[in-house]
Amino acid sequence: MSKQPLIVVRPYTPTDMAILEQTYDVYRLWEATDKVSFLRKFGPGVRALATDGEHGADAATMDLLPDLELIASFGVGLDAIDLSHARRRNIRVTHTPDVLTEDVADMAFGLLLACARRIPQCDSYVRQGRWLEGGPGLTTRVWGKRLGILGLGRVGRAVATRAEAFKLEIAYHDRCRFDDVHYRYFDDVAALALEVDFLVICASADTDTRGLIGSHVLDALGHDGMLINVARGAIVDEPVLLRYLREHLIAGAALDVFHNEPNIAREFGELDNVILQPHQSSATKETRASMGALVRDNLSAYFAGRPLLTEFLGPVR
Ligand code: 8YV
Repeated sequence: MSKQPLIVVRPYTPTDMAILEQTYDVYRLWEATDKVSFLRKFGPGVRALATDGEHGADAATMDLLPDLELIASFGVGLDAIDLSHARRRNIRVTHTPDVLTEDVADMAFGLLLACARRIPQCDSYVRQGRWLEGGPGLTTRVWGKRLGILGLGRVGRAVATRAEAFKLEIAYHDRCRFDDVHYRYFDDVAALALEVDFLVICASADTDTRGLIGSHVLDALGHDGMLINVARGAIVDEPVLLRYLREHLIAGAALDVFHNEPNIAREFGELDNVILQPHQSSATKETRASMGALVRDNLSAYFAGRPLLTEFLGPVR
């Protein structure tokens, strides 16, 4: 039986690629120097495309694939996929929720601790032999403080579970209040920021949240406040955040996500009050293996005419 063609947008792990190649006729889009010509040549007849949260799929790519029926994304965030266009074209979209939730929450909490206790800065201090000059100064307590969560979805809730163990007072902002949690709700993110020590962004990037964290929110977070972002760089007004860090208008930030990844604003590297990660929240061997398996399971379900496992059916914002 001939294999189904599959456009793969970015390289997955060698193991994932090998399994995909056993089952599909794989077209490696990332290797093409001229992607448009590549898609024009190999696109017709292709029913599925595999991508990820960062590369997504724009309308132009979809339109070079006249027979496209399924986009299978490796990641939970769908902001890089033109969902409106996919809906217009009746292209179904799957993603990888749940399997990465706990890892992303671990990263959020790790970043919070690292930022408040200045763990990377103190590590450098010891490595540079500066301990001999005296201690590096005091840091900020985490336990018992006030934590604000922007977006109480799967990841936000997993962060809250960890925060409970640290006796943090938890509050959140989301589109609506949830009746199944006892955390304090704010219908405005600046009002939330005013009442917390740490603000953790766990929301998806959409029309409601893009650019939401700007000067009014950072002013509310205040001189002693810290910002942690494990969601998407687009939620933060980055030039404003850089200014607030540079001028010490907030105490610090810990970021796994940025505008224009991986070519991020160079100034971040020059600041001592920010901790930087290269979009690593879901990047454990275990979780990435589960994400790869879920992408494949959705593809096989689709081609076998079975229900998709994790189709995105939510509203397009
Ligand atoms: C991945 C992500 O880093 O799930 C998401 O939305 O951003 C991450 O888990 C990404 O999709 C893989 O490159």
